[in-house]
Amino acid sequence: MDALQELEQLRAEATAAFGQVASPDELERLRVRFLGRKSRLTEVLRSLPQLPPEQRAAVGKRGNELKTFLETSLAAKRQTVAAGSQAPAIDFTLPGLAVPVGRLHPITQTTHAIISCFTPMGFEVVEGPEVEFEAYNFDALNIPKDHPSREAFDTFFVDLPSPQPSKGRLVLRSHTSPVQIRVMEHCRPPLRVVVPGKVFRPDPLDPSHSFMFHQVEGLMVDERTSFADLKGVLEQVLKTLFGAKTLTRFRPHFFSFTEPSAEVDIACAACRGTGCSTCGQKGWLEIMGCGMVHPNVFKAVGYDPRAVQGFAFGMGVERIAMLQHRLTDIRLFFENDLRFLEQFSR
Ligand code: PHE
Repeated sequence: MDALQELEQLRAEATAAFGQVASPDELERLRVRFLGRKSRLTEVLRSLPQLPPEQRAAVGKRGNELKTFLETSLAAKRQTVAAGSQAPAIDFTLPGLAVPVGRLHPITQTTHAIISCFTPMGFEVVEGPEVEFEAYNFDALNIPKDHPSREAFDTFFVDLPSPQPSKGRLVLRSHTSPVQIRVMEHCRPPLRVVVPGKVFRPDPLDPSHSFMFHQVEGLMVDERTSFADLKGVLEQVLKTLFGAKTLTRFRPHFFSFTEPSAEVDIACAACRGTGCSTCGQKGWLEIMGCGMVHPNVFKAVGYDPRAVQGFAFGMGVERIAMLQHRLTDIRLFFENDLRFLEQFSR
């Protein structure tokens, strides 16, 4: 190989090597290899006097060009390598990393769906504490002292001194109804509120029970509010939630804090009430409790029961979400398995 070929080959080798260099140390090694005292380029230039005269000029010219080329490449590379050593090298041509986007929990989605049935009818959203006074969870709601849910094993009592002993012990609220009391203590009628929130009951976990679940409570109080208003509001809401053809049924029931009281059922969408395999031959599915606010509840908050009327209702969010999504196990909501949660869009 003659000297000119050797210079060409050196240029090719150096270009490839500089292209891959990533650290200042590597760059220094390349400097020594291509420009150092023992480099092939130095040897070629040093051996110029021994070359035949007709080659000398050309080899000298090419050799010096290569030297300049190597020195400028080295200087340029020094800057990029220095910058690269401060921040990790980024290859802008690679596809980006997908950022995992979260979504609302199905229970939150259903809560929002329920609430947005009520807000167009003038209901405001309020919330109350999950740790509640015994007086609000029970007494003010006309729940008698000997009611089983006031027993230690039928309610989660909180083992802390009550900040207001006159309102009794602290409990994890067993329903959202105490927020009715809190609202009426602070506001005068007319009022319309819906109250989403967590409630707690010492139920063992099974496909339809959980020690924690969610309710949406509702309360409307005005000078004249009738059971017809209650029916009208709830029928409309259930049609919005489950479809315009939904059939509803009001079944007499008992709650201490409402009189009269009812449970509301919707007809199974598959058989419309006659019973089929989808509804386990039941025909109707229980959706919520409701009734006209009991006079004793009005008295407890300082309202005159002869001057105002109201209705209240409370529904289980999990129940409704399970019907909407055709789920059969409440525990799925709380296991936080992404394979389950990712199936709920938005
Ligand atoms: N608090 C009742 C429950 O948890 C539901 C309800 C609310 C009933 C309001 C009537 C009126 O079962």
